Amino acid sequence: RVILSPNLTTCHQSLSDADVPVYCCPPKRESEEAFIDFQFPDPSSLTLRIRRPAHLVDDDYIAKYNKALSIMKSLPYEDPRNFMRQANMHCIYCTGAYNQQHSNSLLKIHRSWLFFPWHRMMLYFHERILASLIGDDTFALPFWNWDSPAGMVIPRMYMNGSFRDPERDASHLPPQVADIDFDYVESGLDPQDQIATNVAFMYNQMVSGAKKTELFMGCPYKPGEEGFCDGPGTIELAPHNALHTWVGSNLNPERENLGAFYSAARDPIFYAHHSNIDRLWEVWRGLQGAKAEIHDPDWLDSYFFFHDEKSQLVRIKIRDVLDITKLGYDFQKVDLPWLNARP
Ligand code: C2O
Repeated sequence: RVILSPNLTTCHQSLSDADVPVYCCPPKRESEEAFIDFQFPDPSSLTLRIRRPAHLVDDDYIAKYNKALSIMKSLPYEDPRNFMRQANMHCIYCTGAYNQQHSNSLLKIHRSWLFFPWHRMMLYFHERILASLIGDDTFALPFWNWDSPAGMVIPRMYMNGSFRDPERDASHLPPQVADIDFDYVESGLDPQDQIATNVAFMYNQMVSGAKKTELFMGCPYKPGEEGFCDGPGTIELAPHNALHTWVGSNLNPERENLGAFYSAARDPIFYAHHSNIDRLWEVWRGLQGAKAEIHDPDWLDSYFFFHDEKSQLVRIKIRDVLDITKLGYDFQKVDLPWLNARP
C-alpha cells in the first residue's frame, strides 16, 4: 500500500506562496542518515510538561526559554537543532520541497488533514530540543491564547530578547487587539468590539462551523497526483492563516516573517501560535467525543521525518501523535469564553 510520505532523496528548491523560488533543504542529505522509528518517551521517567498561556508566564520562565532559544540560535547550521534549521523544516514541508514516495507529486502539509498532526510533531521535537539545551525536562512551550480576550494581543514576552522579531507589522504590536479573522484589510473596530467579534468568530470556527470532522480537520489528502485535496479546516483558515498574515510585516512582499509559509517559523511567536492551535485541536476533540476520531489508515499511517533532541533522524506517523499524554505534555486548563457565544 502506498502511504503518503516524503522521499528524502528529493529535497529541492521550492516556491513561496507568491511563487518566488526558495531553498530550505538541509545541508546534508537526510536520506544518507539512518533513521529510527518513533518511540514514546519512557512513561516512568515522565514529568508532564505543562504548556501555559504566554501572557501569564513569569519572568523565571521567560529567562529560561530565552536562554534555550539563544543557545538554539547559536548552534551551527549543520546542526539540525539549530533554530534556522528548525524554521526550515516548516519551509520544507509547507512549500513542497520533498516529492512524495512513489510519485513525483509534491508533499505539502497545509490545507488538508495533515495540518494538525504535522504541526504537533514539529512542536513536539522543537520543545524537547529546547528542553535538552538547558537540561530541564519539564520545559514546555507556551501557547498564545488568542481565543481569550486577555490573550488577543501579541504577548509581551515576544517583544524582547531572542523572542523579538523585527519583521512584524508595526501597527499590530501591543496594545493593538488582533483581528483573528484578518484578511489584509484593517477592521477599524475599537478594542471592545474587536474582542466581541473575535469571540463570536471562535464560536463559529470551533462549534457551529465545525460539527463534522472533515470541516474541522481538513479534507482527506491521499498519495499521488489524484490524491491531492485543498480543503483546510475551519481553524486552519482562520484564526490560523489570518494571524500569520496579521503579525507579519506589511512592508515585506509576502508579509514575512510570520505571513509567509517559507519564513513563518523564523519568528519565535510561530511556536506559541501553533501551540494554541494544538491545544484547540484537543479542545475540539473533547467537545466532539468519539465521533471526532479519524480511522482511515491512509491518515494514521502517513509519516514524516524530524530530528530529535539527540540529532537523531526519526520517522513518525500520525497515529503516534494522537495522545498528548503519551507524548508527555498537556495544556494548562483555561476558560473558553467563546464556548457559549452563540450569536
Ligand atoms: Cu505550517 Cu502556521 O503554518
